Amino acid sequence: MVLKRILPIVFMLLIVLKMHGQRIAIMGAMDEEIELLKSKLEHKKEVNKNGVTFYTGKLKGQKIVLLKAGIGKVNAAYSTAILTSSFKIEALIFTGVAGGLHPGIKPGDIVIADKMIQYDFGQLKEEGFETWPTRNLSQNNEKNSLYLKVDATLLVESKKVSNTINLQPVNGNQPKFYVGTIATGDTFVSDPKKAKDLYSNFNALATEMEGAAVAQVCNMLGLPYIVIRSCSDNANTSAHTDYFKFVQIASVNSAQMVLELLENYKVIE
Ligand code: ADE
Repeated sequence: MVLKRILPIVFMLLIVLKMHGQRIAIMGAMDEEIELLKSKLEHKKEVNKNGVTFYTGKLKGQKIVLLKAGIGKVNAAYSTAILTSSFKIEALIFTGVAGGLHPGIKPGDIVIADKMIQYDFGQLKEEGFETWPTRNLSQNNEKNSLYLKVDATLLVESKKVSNTINLQPVNGNQPKFYVGTIATGDTFVSDPKKAKDLYSNFNALATEMEGAAVAQVCNMLGLPYIVIRSCSDNANTSAHTDYFKFVQIASVNSAQMVLELLENYKVIE
């Protein structure tokens, strides 16, 4: 009888102890993508580990470690590995810009990933490129799913944010929110044919160069994660010009989403 009463308390205590000292990691690939969050970080401290600069502090009352992961899948995976071996991390949020693929998406629109795919991992055959699922080193090299799902709770909370947040217009476009697949590869896509292929082959709403690599590492480590991206361009012939026009404002909007998400997604302390 007594045991029945005590057990839930012990269980809660164990959770609290496990969470104690843990941080939420926020990652962007480039300076622009972490700038706003860096400027708002309270009690900010800077530390460099193996070439990766980490900023610790608090945002919305939560313990945070913020970092620039660098561009591309290898830098993103490297930074995630250094991050997770240097800090106790409870969840990871990736923020930044992307090239929109869905025909309705305009620069400024936000894509909340419900799953990620690495579109450039696979086999090149005479008849074309076949995308392969990646392998999980921490699980006997077993195949991962082709699409890596983001954390369910982070997704629910991000969707809630999208219903209430008021973001800045980009080029006269009031940002709209999309939820779906984001496709990652080591290529800045500025080709309408490639953009169309990624949309029709993978049903991908946006493309970028880091998210699925981070997703794969998080998956291997059992770490909850989500990727939120604001579109700076449409991965078409004007992608490069649009990117430079909108990267700043799109980065700020994505970071604003993350700030609101931190209001909803609380870590027990
Ligand atoms: N990030 C922003 N725009 C992109 C694009 N068009 N391709 C890949 N990554 C991007």
